[in-house]
Amino acid sequence: MPVTVILGTQWGDEGKGKAVDTFAGDFDYVARYNGGNNAGHTIINEFGEFKIHLVPSGIFYPRAKCLIGGGVVIDPAVLIEEMNSLRKAGVKLDRRLMISPRSHLIMPYHKILDGLYEEAKGAGATGTTRRGIGPTFADKVSYNGIRWTDFTDKNIFADKLRMQLTLKNKIIIALGGEALSFEKVHDEYRGYYEQLKSYIVELFPIVQDGLKAGKKFLLEQAMGSILDTDWGTYPFVTASTTLASAATAGLGIPPQAISRVIGVTKAYTTRVGAGPMPTEVTDDPHAEKALSEVAATTGRIRRGGWFDAELTRFAAQINGIDRLFLTKLDILSEFEEIKVCVGYEFKGKKVHYHDLNAYQLDEVKPIYKTVKGWRTDIRGIRKFSALPAKARAYVELIEKLSGVKVGWVANGPEREAVIKK
Ligand code: GDP
Ligand code: IMO
Ligand code: MG
Repeated sequence: MPVTVILGTQWGDEGKGKAVDTFAGDFDYVARYNGGNNAGHTIINEFGEFKIHLVPSGIFYPRAKCLIGGGVVIDPAVLIEEMNSLRKAGVKLDRRLMISPRSHLIMPYHKILDGLYEEAKGAGATGTTRRGIGPTFADKVSYNGIRWTDFTDKNIFADKLRMQLTLKNKIIIALGGEALSFEKVHDEYRGYYEQLKSYIVELFPIVQDGLKAGKKFLLEQAMGSILDTDWGTYPFVTASTTLASAATAGLGIPPQAISRVIGVTKAYTTRVGAGPMPTEVTDDPHAEKALSEVAATTGRIRRGGWFDAELTRFAAQINGIDRLFLTKLDILSEFEEIKVCVGYEFKGKKVHYHDLNAYQLDEVKPIYKTVKGWRTDIRGIRKFSALPAKARAYVELIEKLSGVKVGWVANGPEREAVIKK
């Protein structure tokens, strides 16, 4: 498959990093196309355990060249730190990691504004990662952004920064924050550019020549489908398009070149940050504990809930998903009974995800089907036929409800814990 997109079907953290790590060894290029360092993709392999935010998860395979597309926004300090920790673990980056000069920079004022907006909104806040993502994308589309390419001319970067600080300092002060100094930000960011400039290259010829030569591309989405700006639970979403279609603009891939879309789906549901979550468990301390997690980027607690087929069905349709990569089946092993949300009821009527806005979604009643759990440790199993019958039936129920076949089942965080179905 020349171009494969791997994306999350829920509210992020489905296990995309692990899924990419499973397949990346067969690819010539692995690329990020959206989001920024709000992402936290966990990878556990022979190099160690990593929570990576910007570098594509294919970096651990020497064959794969890793591309950060123009659709990604970058906090250079986070990228440099991540590159250093990868180097320290023995991962080679030179001539393997390439960053689009079109990508926008997260500036200090974006991070400050992210926090100030969230605080001003109080109970209505999105619960962002406070990494400056929303304000950076807002500047990008309102022609106020700063890109890596602006550093090729000393005056362009300095002039843009001076202008932006004039605007942003006014807002920051009005909202009770502290103004930023031009010299300090200027010198800090010039320094980042000097450290990163050998990695910044136009990706257009690389992608075009690669496609022509039949090279294989793996495109790694960040965030999940239900965090998409347009199709997610707005305003409890992220600031970039997260769908498979975003890969076209975010990397520069013609749409018809995408030949396969793999949807990564947790066997249950989690969400970090604010916003509706119909299947969230709030009345069962045991299930709550078993299904909640610690977030990879912010260390916050991810809210846990039962599998929501309405979401995966929607994500499968809007992204054109060919196969699901089902993760964390092992986490359900301890349950006597497992609930699966098969649909929604709103004001006494059956409705679909796409019928509702975020506030209505907050009020839907999930329609549950309860199935018996398998109550056996399934970690270590490497063949689908060796899974307990009830675990296989659970996977098949997810297939039936989502309308997509499951291609792989993950039953542990480490690289080896994948069962081909
Ligand atoms: P991503 O953002 O989609 O890459 O997902 P995260 O890395 O943020 O969160 C997924 C978490 O689940 C990480 O801690 C992974 O190590 C872990 N994980 C992934 N797949 C499995 C699995 O099949 N079983 C278990 N137990 N953990 C998994
Ligand atoms: P990965 O790639 C889970 C959530 C935040 C918040 C909302 C907006 O690891 O799956 P933002 O900082 O983007 O403006 O926050 O989006 N969010 C994520 N949730 N996984 C992610 O990334 C996320 N990236 C952003 O928690 O609710
Ligand atoms: Mg994550």
